[in-house]
Amino acid sequence: MHIELVTGDITTETVDAIVNAANSSLLGGGGVDGAIHRKGGPAILEECRALRASRYGRGLPVGEAVATTAGRLPARWVIHTVGPVFSSEVDRSPLLRSCYTRSLEVAAELGARSIAYPLISSGVYRWPKEDAVRQALAALNAADTSIDLVRLVLFDEATRLIAEKVAHE
Ligand code: APR
Repeated sequence: MHIELVTGDITTETVDAIVNAANSSLLGGGGVDGAIHRKGGPAILEECRALRASRYGRGLPVGEAVATTAGRLPARWVIHTVGPVFSSEVDRSPLLRSCYTRSLEVAAELGARSIAYPLISSGVYRWPKEDAVRQALAALNAADTSIDLVRLVLFDEATRLIAEKVAHE
């Protein structure tokens, strides 16, 4: 598996699967979640509603992942995962790593060979970016997977430089 660190908007990625930093409701939000639903169109939200009704009546648990199709986006699937809200008192990093691991598993089950991730929890959920990258790379490097390409899509160049630094630690 090859890991790339790139700057960009995840909604334009042409990989098989893109990951959405969603919330447990699966019914949309701001940040990446808002961008994915806005550009992907209503089909994604419809599938999310159906998943809530059939499998996740109480919401998708933190650290879990579930797939829908990608509507009008260039990717084939969107994998929705729920990152933990950052806490300086409780170590929630296992849940953050689980988002990466579970999304990779869901993607592999679908037959995806390439996947793009945003930096989960590092926006609205306030996880410090440097540690968010560290957790992402720890989880991805530990995974035994059939996925060939993993792209970590950082929203701005400053965050990509942080990610490069962490990758060379
Ligand atoms: N492409 C790539 N990265 C993006 C994009 C985009 N289009 N938009 C935002 N980002 C970056 C942010 O800069 C941040 O570094 O994604 C990272 C994650 O930020 P959020 O989207 O805020 O996700 P998160 O911190 O996990 O919070 C999730 O926010 O939108 C709500 O419904 C969502 O309640 C959930 C919460």
